Amino acid sequence: MASALGKRRSIQLSYEGKGLLQKQSSEYYTRDGAKSNTPRCKLLPLALSRGLCLDNFVAGRYNAPMSEIPANYRDMDREALLSAIAARKAELGETLCILGHHYQSDDVIQFSDYRGDSLKLSQIAGEQTADHIVFCGVHFMAESADILTSDAQTVCLPNLSAGCGMADMAEADAVAVALEEVAALAGGATIVPVTYVNSTAAIKAVTADWNGACCTSSNVRNVFEMAMTPQSFGGCDGDKIFAIPDQHLGRNTAFAMGRGASDCVVYDPQLPNGGMTSEQVRAATFILWKGWCYVHQTFTPEHVRAVRAELPNATVIAHPECPREVVVECDLAGSTAQIITAIDTAPAGSEWVVGTEANLVYRLAAQYPDKTIRLLGDGAARCVQMARIDLPHLLWCLDSIAAGEPINVITVDAETAKKAKLALDRMIAIKAVSEVIQIRPEGA
Ligand code: 13P
Ligand code: SF4
Repeated sequence: MASALGKRRSIQLSYEGKGLLQKQSSEYYTRDGAKSNTPRCKLLPLALSRGLCLDNFVAGRYNAPMSEIPANYRDMDREALLSAIAARKAELGETLCILGHHYQSDDVIQFSDYRGDSLKLSQIAGEQTADHIVFCGVHFMAESADILTSDAQTVCLPNLSAGCGMADMAEADAVAVALEEVAALAGGATIVPVTYVNSTAAIKAVTADWNGACCTSSNVRNVFEMAMTPQSFGGCDGDKIFAIPDQHLGRNTAFAMGRGASDCVVYDPQLPNGGMTSEQVRAATFILWKGWCYVHQTFTPEHVRAVRAELPNATVIAHPECPREVVVECDLAGSTAQIITAIDTAPAGSEWVVGTEANLVYRLAAQYPDKTIRLLGDGAARCVQMARIDLPHLLWCLDSIAAGEPINVITVDAETAKKAKLALDRMIAIKAVSEVIQIRPEGA
């Protein structure tokens, strides 16, 4: 169902080291009223480099700079932090549950009660009874946890600056406008949004308005299939899928389903009608929002070729957030959970080169000393936002809970949460695919 929506939003925000900028009609103003000419095209890279989310900017939730952490936490040495966190965790006992994404550092993830990928952590969050959930991940994950837990439970993100560079590339109002535009260009075809869980709660709510669903990289193929399945068989009855916000996940999944580049068209949110013609939309099955993960975009086809020359017997596996031109050079593609399973079940002595976040790859290398496991590329695949959850912030957060005044509580407003939950529940109900995607035939 199309939401009733007017024109493209008028408020646009940016940052120039002085504070937020607000666009009013054709002019930009800083918060203190000075004029600025900062164009829209600078907005996303600037926000991205700071790990900030535009929807949260609009809601004013990012007013607490990282430096607000009390100095005593910053001044503590690692050993003191480790023992203080362990003591607080023991003291809080079952009233506390710490969730950790696989991309967290070893220092932080050792304290998690559960670790997992986005899908598993969402499922676990929904099952928790602890009073306090501390999410060692990024902002969209904590939002999902808040939506999936009861009102009596609090969800804390130890550092509010832990956003997601990819989630920052789509804003709810712009997505709602985009859906209207695509539907108009598609000439009566039904558009179903499939929104990667790496997105704000507000976008998840828009997804539900349009009868769509969320997905993670572990179940995206099954969600795409469901989106195109007739309603009478429990599907969303879609003719076309609008994959938001990661173009690479959308394109790689289209290929995994036996489709090709000609079935895909990219929607550029900076351009009217996404820069697409009606003919292009009518010819395509997959409309791909022009977003990406900067961590997975650090990998190049040259990285794969170079490592093949060095380790000719290695299996090269990449996350589907990597660009298609990288994935086609690899042997396999798989989500975080699929990568872990593939390596876990591989024989001793096997060699692996992995294209995903460095913390996970280095941890796998330490965990499986009987296998050779290397990070693809030049070591740049680090998620800066995940790294903002560090020991000082974790201790600060646990201390605040123990003091009865939790900091950095993530709260999604009731109306948004109710709608977003529909899209998240659909995601959780759809089974993960455990097998990796074979890109090159074995032995080729
Ligand atoms: P998954 O946890 O779904 O594999 O996604 C990877 C990622 O980039 C998390 O932000
Ligand atoms: Fe976002 Fe990429 Fe970091 Fe995942 S790895 S949290 S997609 S920026």
